[in-house]
Amino acid sequence: MFWDEKYERFRGQVRDFCERVIAPRASEIDREGKYPADVISACAEQGYLGMVVPEGLGGSGMDTLEYTIVVEEVSRVCGSTGIILAAHNSLGIYPIDLFGSDEQKQEYIPPLASGKRLGSFGLTEPSAGSDAGGTQTTAELKGDEYLLNGSKCFITNASDEHETGYVITAVTDKEKGVHGISSFIILGGTPGFRVGKKENKLGLRGSDTAQLFFEDCRIPKENLLGEEGDGFKQFMIALDGGRISIGAMALGLAQGALKQAIARAGEREQFGKPIGRKQAIQWKLADMHTHVSASRMLIYRSALLKDAGKPFTRESAMGKLYASESAMFVTYQAMQIFGGYGYMKDYPLERIYRDAKLCTIGEGTSEIQRLVIAREVLGR
Ligand code: CAA
Repeated sequence: MFWDEKYERFRGQVRDFCERVIAPRASEIDREGKYPADVISACAEQGYLGMVVPEGLGGSGMDTLEYTIVVEEVSRVCGSTGIILAAHNSLGIYPIDLFGSDEQKQEYIPPLASGKRLGSFGLTEPSAGSDAGGTQTTAELKGDEYLLNGSKCFITNASDEHETGYVITAVTDKEKGVHGISSFIILGGTPGFRVGKKENKLGLRGSDTAQLFFEDCRIPKENLLGEEGDGFKQFMIALDGGRISIGAMALGLAQGALKQAIARAGEREQFGKPIGRKQAIQWKLADMHTHVSASRMLIYRSALLKDAGKPFTRESAMGKLYASESAMFVTYQAMQIFGGYGYMKDYPLERIYRDAKLCTIGEGTSEIQRLVIAREVLGR
């Protein structure tokens, strides 16, 4: 058994913070549809903006399991805050930590880890969604600078309202297919780079999702991450890690819905007794609990494999697939247990129900997870 008391103590501290600071703001964040700057700066004080970053670079030096527990617990009370932290840590910082030069790490990671700057990942484009290799944005080397042209869409944490840093992909050599894609670091506010319209979403309404535009945008050639042509693989590796955090987010949302459903089953009386005494409801709760527990086992296992330096591509895809589809199942069953009340905005359940859907889409749809798993099972 991989479990250790130290992680339960850690969870207790994180849960206490989440219940005190984030939970009271969750429904307002959703209603206002606005980035929760106050909550994110409270998270920064807890060290949640640089979770797996080494302490020498201003981070908290957590292991991946601790990081997973934080995303799970935060998402249990507020999905919007959960995805802001997951995208920032896994996709905004992690590629720089993994592939950056010492100079790039020293320059870009500390402001991200302290929360001074929010991190973001620009891969998706109008014609490069599931087919991430279909990237059209170009980066042309001109002297000491790269000239960027193109656009990105559905970019989490993209905003002009606070300081931001992005890792983005662009084609440096059209002839080489995915081996001609490179990745770059770019800061918000760079001339020629602008954030487009903020999307109006079904759920996770407190997290900013926007387009990015590059119009003859010049960045120093030192902003290239790794070598030219490495970008696609770097992003695939970053997504392997990111999928653990989206799985953790789905797990947290499912746990939040399950908690509501258990309470409701004890309180709500029909036919002269609490509905939780009816087998129809008991079986739902048993299935929901089983889905949540199995999701947790898969996700924690991928986190442990990652920390042990073992391959985890298949495991993180399985964890994300199972946890996100379980979140759909659990929130659906919770809604059935609540009946009409669950459909009303007076209860948090409808927010959780809407928030959970993104987990089957973001960082690779369920269909892409199955493709990744099948390739690993069958051999590429
Ligand atoms: N680790 C290391 N290398 C990898 C890799 C991995 N996990 N996956 C692929 N590669 C390498 C391959 O080995 C191959 O290298 P060689 O050519 O040297 O052998 C190269 O990358 C190309 O791989 P494929 O041939 O497998 O590439 P493909 O075009 O067939 O597509 C895919 C692979 C898995 C479908 C990929 O395109 C993919 O993951 N798509 C989904 C994209 C995605 O998840 N988008 C989410 C956007 S981010 C987001 O949503 C964030 C948010 O806001 C929440």
